[in-house]
Amino acid sequence: SRALVIAVDGPAAAGKGTLARRLADALGLPYLDTGLLYRAVGRRMLDAGLDPAAQPADEQARRVTPEDLKRGDLRVPEVDRAASLVAAQQAVRAILVDVQRDFARAAGGVLDGRDIGTVIFPDAQVKLFITASPAARARRRWEQLATDRDAPDREAQIARVEAELVARDAADAGRAVAPLKAAVDAVVIDTDHMTAEQVLAEALRVVRVRA
Ligand code: C5P
Repeated sequence: SRALVIAVDGPAAAGKGTLARRLADALGLPYLDTGLLYRAVGRRMLDAGLDPAAQPADEQARRVTPEDLKRGDLRVPEVDRAASLVAAQQAVRAILVDVQRDFARAAGGVLDGRDIGTVIFPDAQVKLFITASPAARARRRWEQLATDRDAPDREAQIARVEAELVARDAADAGRAVAPLKAAVDAVVIDTDHMTAEQVLAEALRVVRVRA
């Protein structure tokens, strides 16, 4: 019996990370947030003064270290955009494929991203595609980031977050290489009206059936 691999894919801010971390905890599996890899490459491009939209990023991808993944400045809007831009480069993805496969080789794992079930682990025993409406995702992301929850312009702030999420998803779903999409054998969970606990329970039910 081969090591258990659980692929958790979906659009930005759908709750993939929360679910994947809880699944890994519940099942005693290693957890990898693969978006951090692309964020680290995007961060390196910005730090080096290189334009992630126009210049090759494979050199920076080769230099990513475990320390890079722990940086505190990976979840800021400019890195959201830079990560999505470098993620569209085939040469960058080719370098990061091995890192992701090696991660789960020995003991399996839960990996969250955009192409885990389609490209990285097409034969994963369990594939989940976690989604939610742009409005719900924007509100959750805003609640994580908000410094002032009673700001008079809160609805405008949420609308801005939603516009950024929708633009990034369109870029991720529209790219030629490894686009964001559900694998044909993925179980889709729409989390709009679900709590994190309900999503975990549903995912564990799928694991029991498929693994
Ligand atoms: O998941 P997260 O929002 O941190 O990912 C940042 C960006 O990295 C995504 O918008 C996407 O462009 C890219 N990514 C990817 N494939 C993955 C994980 C992330 O292309 N498996």
